[in-house]
Amino acid sequence: VETLAIDGGRPLSGSVRVHGAKNAALPIMAAALMTYGECVLEDVPDLKDIDVMMEILQSLGASVSRQGGTITIEPSGINQYVVQDEMMRKMRSSLFLMGPLLAKHGQVRVSKPGGCTIGTRPIDFHLNGLKLLGAEIQEENGYVECKAARLKGNHIYLDYPSVGATENLMMAAVLAEGTTVIENAAREPEIVDLANFLNAMGASVSGAGDGTIFIEGVERLHPVQYRVIPDRIVAGTLLLAATAAGGEIEVQNVRPIHLGVVLTKLRDAGAEIRTYLDRIQLKRRRPLVAVDRIQTAPYPGFPTDLQAPFMAVLTLAKGTSVLSETVFEERFKHVNELQRMGANIKVDLRTAFVKGVPRLTGANVAATDLRAGAALVIAGLAAEGTTTIEQVHHIDRGYQQIERVFESLGASIRRKSKSRF
Ligand code: EPZ
Repeated sequence: VETLAIDGGRPLSGSVRVHGAKNAALPIMAAALMTYGECVLEDVPDLKDIDVMMEILQSLGASVSRQGGTITIEPSGINQYVVQDEMMRKMRSSLFLMGPLLAKHGQVRVSKPGGCTIGTRPIDFHLNGLKLLGAEIQEENGYVECKAARLKGNHIYLDYPSVGATENLMMAAVLAEGTTVIENAAREPEIVDLANFLNAMGASVSGAGDGTIFIEGVERLHPVQYRVIPDRIVAGTLLLAATAAGGEIEVQNVRPIHLGVVLTKLRDAGAEIRTYLDRIQLKRRRPLVAVDRIQTAPYPGFPTDLQAPFMAVLTLAKGTSVLSETVFEERFKHVNELQRMGANIKVDLRTAFVKGVPRLTGANVAATDLRAGAALVIAGLAAEGTTTIEQVHHIDRGYQQIERVFESLGASIRRKSKSRF
């Protein structure tokens, strides 16, 4: 079992490059199954979730290899259409296999992902959409089985712009017969990246990034070489860390446009920010001031994935900040842990009221999920004294060698192995 130990209170300085986006790479890896031949994906981050996706593709019969940030996927050996329960439990994104396997091979069986610590996370939009595309769906003993001779285009309206459902349905529709329209589709940059990848393979997808996506089905897709977009959530986390701890940093390989509202709120809180085509410089102006208010929402709204990290910064901002979480119902698990470090936070249903305190103090805390963990790293970097973070495996799902990144910016942060006994 590993922990992170952080001696806080040191300002950050220097320059750091952001890795490719996990949440773009995962669906793109699944989409690569729909070709015949070898797809080469570049700047794929070296993360646990990506390893699990590689394992899943291999378990289905694809050959997959990694060299540095480049992953090669050759799917012609696929002869399995069942995603094992064990894989599904490791990672919810195994759901992304549904669209591609169904579209290309006419069948797929996955176990239903369970609820997770940020909310119930149902999959009804995925299933209803696939049904509209002509899939026959049977649910039994915790498994979902989908079959279709060939999917047929249809008009799909999503009750909520779900990121995963938009991606799954977009993948299913590219090989379907005829036209599919996805209305009230998610507009996240990762959706646009997947559409760009599919189009590079010969698909016909338009409107990704707007609320309505049009897909003309094609017969075949061809393999391509493709570079995944930079991870906007990792970039945001780094900027937030420098705002909390102070100092001056440059974040490279980032698209400022993907962080619109986050940069606005960071400026409101007291950060000085300069944006360039593919990098952002940030310097903290003291003191930090409260932000009223941040409300998470589908893109281009404030990303739910940066709600916890931003809250960590606001614990030190003068005045009372208000943060509302509208996307996932249980995404305030970090509040307890931040309170252990001296934060003054009150939660009323889905809204947190954060009254700034002059300082946080190091404590023993636990990462309950990926972004809650990132929030604790930020708090630890800004706090006085030593913070020890347990359950680091959650953080490793989304941040490649987080301790090295912050060490390179001058932080005192160490990974320690702790015996179970
Ligand atoms: C994606 O999850 C991301 N994961 C999440 O990142 C991110 O927090 C989330 O989008 C929102 O931006 C990946 O891209 C792999 P949704 P996803 O479907 O697709 C409800 C991280 O930390 N819903 O947009 O699962 C759902 O319960 C993670 O990297 C249904 O009701 O999110 C939620 O309230 C965690 N029925 C809302 O929609 C459905 O069938 C948004 O979920 C599907 C979703």
